[in-house]
Amino acid sequence: MADLLELAVVIPTFNEKANVATLVAKLDQALVGRNWEAIFVDDDSPDGTADAAREIGRLDKRIRVIQRIGRRGLSSACIEGMCATAAPVVAVIDGDLQHDETLLPAMLDLLKGDGSAEGALDVVVGSRFVVGGCTGEWDSDRVAKSALATKLSRRVLKADLSDPMSGFFAIRTDVVRRLAPDLSAIGFKIMLDLLTASPTPLRFVELPYTFRCRTEGESKLDHVVAMEYLIALYDRMFGRFVPVRFAMFSAIGVLGVGIHMVVLTALFLGLGAGFVLGEIVATLAALTFNFFLNNALTYRDRRLKGWRQLADGWVSFAVICSVGAIANVGIAAFLYEMRDGAWAASALVGVLVGAVWNYALSSKFTWGRY
Ligand code: GDD
Ligand code: MN
Repeated sequence: MADLLELAVVIPTFNEKANVATLVAKLDQALVGRNWEAIFVDDDSPDGTADAAREIGRLDKRIRVIQRIGRRGLSSACIEGMCATAAPVVAVIDGDLQHDETLLPAMLDLLKGDGSAEGALDVVVGSRFVVGGCTGEWDSDRVAKSALATKLSRRVLKADLSDPMSGFFAIRTDVVRRLAPDLSAIGFKIMLDLLTASPTPLRFVELPYTFRCRTEGESKLDHVVAMEYLIALYDRMFGRFVPVRFAMFSAIGVLGVGIHMVVLTALFLGLGAGFVLGEIVATLAALTFNFFLNNALTYRDRRLKGWRQLADGWVSFAVICSVGAIANVGIAAFLYEMRDGAWAASALVGVLVGAVWNYALSSKFTWGRY
């Protein structure tokens, strides 16, 4: 019995090379006497984080590495790590030493439940209650944003958690496997994703800890991650009706129409260029704008990089959108013929069909190839 694997510690990393060895040493200390493994899930960090972890893994078989190529995302990395272990309990901890690894044994004991199935727990959350941790040094902007995010999360989450945004928690792996197909996997908030995916409320307890300050490397929580948070909430609330990627793609399409009109006005009215020339330049500008914005936001997790990929992507996007435009006009003209006079409704249906076409094909052929 003593040899059974009890706990997997999943560590999502991006450019955390300087923290790897220290974290392993701290885990080794905190989990003495337990049967554990650690899984670094690294998104091919340019600083060589995965190599650093592999180097330790050659000596110490408890240390494993999943290196993902061409993908980014904290949540999806955690999900992959959590599904890659035989341990019955899995914990997720940041790779930058900001979370308190000494909580892990207590988390494990709570989830093991010591055989009494009655009142058994699903999740133990490490919560940043404590004043004096690194949140004490956050600027007022981050404090306000974090408070707003917490408030928003309470709307989708029925449970009363004091730190629903925590990235430090432990959970039973059978629960993860059951919920995995329904996770949105967007952005940073993996635990919130798990809690909201469950049809029946998960049973949880919170353990307080002090959020430490980062000493090596830097945070990856930027504006796009903040936006991804809103997207993840949207996905939970309305994703069933309008998929989140399609909503973003369409919103960017609307912005593209704005760009088109601005460029056309500038050329045609401002510079006195011919209308057709103005239209051609405006169309190319809008197309290029939409391509890059979708690449940066809608398909951030499958982003095309480097000249070759970007050029290939742009051409395929242009071809797809041209066909979309033809379908758009064709359908609008057909409906206008059929229902004489309903010009606005015909045009809108044309736009919708064009948008669905552009979205469906570009997600497969522009952003689905690498
Ligand atoms: N594999 C992978 N892919 N790992 C990532 C990625 C990614 O795209 N982005 C970040 N990470 C890793 C980092 O290397 C680090 O180990 C951990 O995820 C947390 O990232 P930080 O960039 O340090 O985030 P933070 O400290 O600002 O945010 C923490 O606090 C938030 C609450 O304010 C995290 O614990 C969040 O989960 C938490 O919600
Ligand atoms: Mn951090």
